[in-house]
Amino acid sequence: AFEVVLSSSGRVIPVAADQTVVQALDAAGVLVPTSCEQGVCGTCLTRVLEGECDHKDMYLTPEEQAAHDQFLPCCSRAKSPRLVLDL
Ligand code: FES
Repeated sequence: AFEVVLSSSGRVIPVAADQTVVQALDAAGVLVPTSCEQGVCGTCLTRVLEGECDHKDMYLTPEEQAAHDQFLPCCSRAKSPRLVLDL
């Protein structure tokens, strides 16, 4: 498990092992638009300000994934204990 931080409010939202980041945000009342929910379409693309992503999508290029400044929260997770999101 890890947590995400909303940069606009400083709110910290835990992400359990059995939920996606999108699901954790949704449960906290923060809606991220989704479509495929499989890391293919790019609809849920979210900017990452801090932290290391665990990319599981097929949308970003390897170079984009390596920059750790955006991720697809319908499927991707975190390698670091927390991710600060531009939300
Ligand atoms: Fe399609 Fe996340 S909803 S990539």
